[in-house]
Amino acid sequence: MIFGAPVQAFSLSAIMKAYMDQIKSLNDKKVACFVTKGAPFNWTGGNKAINQMKKIIESQGGTVIGTEIVVWRGKREEQIVELLEKFSGLF
Ligand SMILES: Cc1cc2nc3c(=O)[nH]c(=O)nc-3n(C[C@H](O)[C@H](O)[C@H](O)COP(=O)(O)O)c2cc1C
Repeated sequence: MIFGAPVQAFSLSAIMKAYMDQIKSLNDKKVACFVTKGAPFNWTGGNKAINQMKKIIESQGGTVIGTEIVVWRGKREEQIVELLEKFSGLF
């Protein structure tokens, strides 16, 4: 199972948070997650958003097996290819 969402306002997008919060159980699920973000700087919410996703997934019994951050205003095509290669080897 893979979750992906944009960073908004230095956090996981509110819609994705609301969606993930209402999932009842991720017991025995291996989960990879990624966020996309506009700015290439560390302090603009990517790590926070990933940590928010991790916390929700783990609180629902899932195991996070991979995470990735894609910078939208960077070399995003290359980062997406790397993400696909990394994530496809996880399951
Ligand atoms: C309302 C809003 C808030 C955003 N806040 C951030 C932010 O705090 N940090 C960041 O790196 N990018 C931010 N972005 C940029 C998005 O993360 C980036 O555009 C997105 O990952 C690409 O998906 P999109 O097609 O929804 O724009 C924001 C975008 C929007 C629309």
